[in-house]
Amino acid sequence: MSSSLVLIGAGRMGGAMARGWAAQPSGPASGGVSIVEPAPSDGLIEMVRLARFQLNPKPQPSAFVVLAVKPQGFSAACADIAGWVGPDSVVISIMAGVPMERIATAFGVSRVARAMPNTPGAIGKGVTGYCRSEAVSSENQASIEGLLSPLGEVVGPLDEALIDVVTAISGSGPAYVFLLAEALAAAGVRNGLDADTARILARATVAGAGALLERGDDPAALRRAVTSPGGTTAAALSVLMGSEGLDPLLDKAVSAAIVRSRELAAS
Ligand SMILES: NC(=O)c1ccc[n+]([C@@H]2O[C@H](COP(=O)([O-])OP(=O)(O)OC[C@H]3O[C@@H](n4cnc5c(N)ncnc54)[C@H](OP(=O)(O)O)[C@@H]3O)[C@@H](O)[C@H]2O)c1
Repeated sequence: MSSSLVLIGAGRMGGAMARGWAAQPSGPASGGVSIVEPAPSDGLIEMVRLARFQLNPKPQPSAFVVLAVKPQGFSAACADIAGWVGPDSVVISIMAGVPMERIATAFGVSRVARAMPNTPGAIGKGVTGYCRSEAVSSENQASIEGLLSPLGEVVGPLDEALIDVVTAISGSGPAYVFLLAEALAAAGVRNGLDADTARILARATVAGAGALLERGDDPAALRRAVTSPGGTTAAALSVLMGSEGLDPLLDKAVSAAIVRSRELAAS
């Protein structure tokens, strides 16, 4: 195997990984990176040139093959991808809903990892949960985690059955938080704020709270710190933490996402 790492699909997620690999002094990316992308953006072409990666070279079996195409495009792409996979390749997929078994069977490999990133990964601020097959060595595992690290935090290895839960919590989770910002702004408008002011207040509140969380503090401790007994926050939280509050609502929402994730994986 002469190329050590190939990325199939350099869109939002794949492109973010490749940009991060360019800055990694060791690991699979340090041995040369090939990028397969049918429609490279000008930014990608420039990044590939600066990093001395190769864009759309002739396929050859690689030690690590990262699949970042859309799941709907996977079947059609399999024939092209096969040229990059040898029996000893480690195939890492970030495709939503494609089980490891399907990837192992498609390419005749035993070393497979499946990861679920989320949208903030495109700017390196995401979180990725992953699982891997039995045949993946601990050395392979360290490489896999290094390859996923440009997307943000990496959590795992997890049981593959839990990937649907990861999908429902962090994969779909950014949309729940965006909805919170929308709903907060809408409540502001209903109570007399103009739409622009409400949007600025809600967006900055969610972003600022996220920045505090990012320091690693416990969310419950942060919440308690801003809740004076008998105060305004306590009044709102008594609704949000009530029997028809956020907990039962999120339980229902997360369950719906898990069910849908299982349906999609089975289709
Ligand atoms: N975005 C998220 O938040 C998120 C979260 C979890 C999981 N994922 C998963 O991450 C994967 C990538 O998502 P994304 O948002 O980065 O999608 P994307 O921006 O559409 O990127 C996919 C890229 O793959 C390219 N491609 C298509 N067919 C190809 C082929 N045969 N060979 C090589 N490249 C090919 C596409 O090119 P064209 O545009 O020319 O088709 C596109 O540039 C998906 O499987 C998705 O399920 C994404």
